[in-house]
Amino acid sequence: MEYFKISCEFERHETRANLKAEIQNLIENCLAATNSAYAPYSHFYVGAAVLLENGIIIKGNNQENAAFPSGLCAERVAIYYVGANHPGVAIKAIAITARSENYTQGTPVTPCGACRQSLLEYELNQQSDIPVHMVSPSGEIIVSKSVKQLLPLYFEHSGKF
Ligand code: THU
Repeated sequence: MEYFKISCEFERHETRANLKAEIQNLIENCLAATNSAYAPYSHFYVGAAVLLENGIIIKGNNQENAAFPSGLCAERVAIYYVGANHPGVAIKAIAITARSENYTQGTPVTPCGACRQSLLEYELNQQSDIPVHMVSPSGEIIVSKSVKQLLPLYFEHSGKF
């Protein structure tokens, strides 16, 4: 038996002021995406924005349903739209945020486990890292240099279907 460690490293930015202009723009898009979230049950409005290699930005937000498990997270709404409508176009960066009527989201929102696995599929396929920007409406941003880093020991299908 042996122990092993997997280490992760994140950037923390107090504001978006020093980030690249295209990332600042991506962040504005994910904040705007919260306005069209359909979250009448949780009142937790999540916004995601995906920047493609060709400069196009795709927005997504959570879409809830009276049959609760039928709803979908913002990140998956966005990434599956990309897969459906821009297949084969590389993804340059992702930004995610959330706000709520019930409380103030002080720390940056982080993607749920299912969304991490869903985003990872696209990162592995394109064979280049996708930086994930996790944004708090109050301004703070945490950046993970890749999706992989957000999901240590991730599931990868090694055989052929
Ligand atoms: N939600 C997301 O959109 N993304 C996540 O990564 C976690 C949670 C949504 C699902 C549901 O509509 C609401 O947030 C409360 O869980």
